[in-house]
Amino acid sequence: MSVQKNIKVVTTHQLQEMKSNGEKITMLTAYDYSMAKIIDQSGIDAILVGDSASNVMAGNETTLPITLDHMIWHATSVVKAVKRALVIVDVPFGSYQGSSSEALRSCIRIMKESGAHAVKMEGGVEIKESIQRVLSAGIPVMGHLGLTPQSIYKFGTYTVRAKEEAEARKLLEDVKLLEELGCFGVVLEKIPSKLAKQAAESVSIPMIGIGAGPEVDGQVLVVHDMLGITQDFKPRFLRQYADLNQVITDAVKNYVSDIKSKDFPNEKESY
Ligand code: KIV
Repeated sequence: MSVQKNIKVVTTHQLQEMKSNGEKITMLTAYDYSMAKIIDQSGIDAILVGDSASNVMAGNETTLPITLDHMIWHATSVVKAVKRALVIVDVPFGSYQGSSSEALRSCIRIMKESGAHAVKMEGGVEIKESIQRVLSAGIPVMGHLGLTPQSIYKFGTYTVRAKEEAEARKLLEDVKLLEELGCFGVVLEKIPSKLAKQAAESVSIPMIGIGAGPEVDGQVLVVHDMLGITQDFKPRFLRQYADLNQVITDAVKNYVSDIKSKDFPNEKESY
């Protein structure tokens, strides 16, 4: 399956076309200008300004502390770097669950102040009104089901979700509902592959998996995890494509050693 390299800018419509054509959709997180530029130039289809910034950028244990202002700051930096990918921004915990007007206000701020292309919200039927209201303002919405980290204190653990029949049934109903409401796609996090396949086959909008197996329409990973910058997070679903932790550690050690030994800077590196 060839990659649509000729696409100038990726739109939500093109993600849907990729699903229809059987072309897998690629998505990674980014939170800053420099990383977003590299990822975009490498040909990614979508960049998620994830609230995982709370973990990997700010060092928090959960995604709950990150604020709307923080998310807009990260999104603004990413948007400045991106020329091709679709930029989707997580609406943070506490800025859309209260009421649909609050959700609309938060999403309008994200779109207006950052220049991003779409938003993502966690949940199904529980946030139906919020999703409807945001969509009615012309803002593309992506759903997020399965393990939804903003509800971690309700779940109690980060284990695989929807293994039991009742939760699996609710997930499939939520997927259908999100399609009917007009969402352009859904992230499915940490659910059994069989259920993810069923979800992907039941709708025409793309299902993007993270720990949801191969039979969905695309994959997303947290960039710090797949580049091996994060050290203590190695779930089964994570494929590590580089060991940047080691690369950076070696580079910094060499830098320290070169300065201590008075090797750096040398004559050619001086004015
Ligand atoms: O915040 C995030 O990085 C996410 C991904 C795990 C999908 O929502």
